[in-house]
Amino acid sequence: MKRVITYGTFDLLHYGHINLLKRAKALGDYLIVALSTDEFNALKGKKSYFSYDKRKALLEAIRYVDLVIPEENWEQKVNDIHEYHVDTFVIGNDWEGKFDFLKKEGCEVIYLPRTPEISTTQIKTSLGKN
Ligand code: CTP
Repeated sequence: MKRVITYGTFDLLHYGHINLLKRAKALGDYLIVALSTDEFNALKGKKSYFSYDKRKALLEAIRYVDLVIPEENWEQKVNDIHEYHVDTFVIGNDWEGKFDFLKKEGCEVIYLPRTPEISTTQIKTSLGKN
């Protein structure tokens, strides 16, 4: 069984997220999403519209997602890879090159092209204008 992991906030779940999750799942058999907690987002200077529990419930309802775990800090990735026996780390190409160091943990690192013209920030900005 090939295990894939991805990380993110996934606030106001949109088709760019679904597209990422679909392609991530297609790279293996089991997809884990490490979802940024509200506390971790605060540390990053981000505030999500939906709370962690709401974002988690939305992700768990997606057919491509097998498990949601909390992302609580920048350092946990190495531990997660070993704890969950991860074969492939996947993230959007806005992070290109940033996680190459995970290759030395024996895991494949893949940057997927982002879906154009959609982001949580863009939705928030656009709704704010209506
Ligand atoms: N993602 C994507 N295509 C998009 C938007 C996001 O492939 N149009 C991917 C990101 O690259 C990341 C994952 O979805 O791997 C979660 O991204 P996240 O930062 O939570 O979503 P964004 O919409 O980019 O949110 P923000 O505007 O707050 O950065």
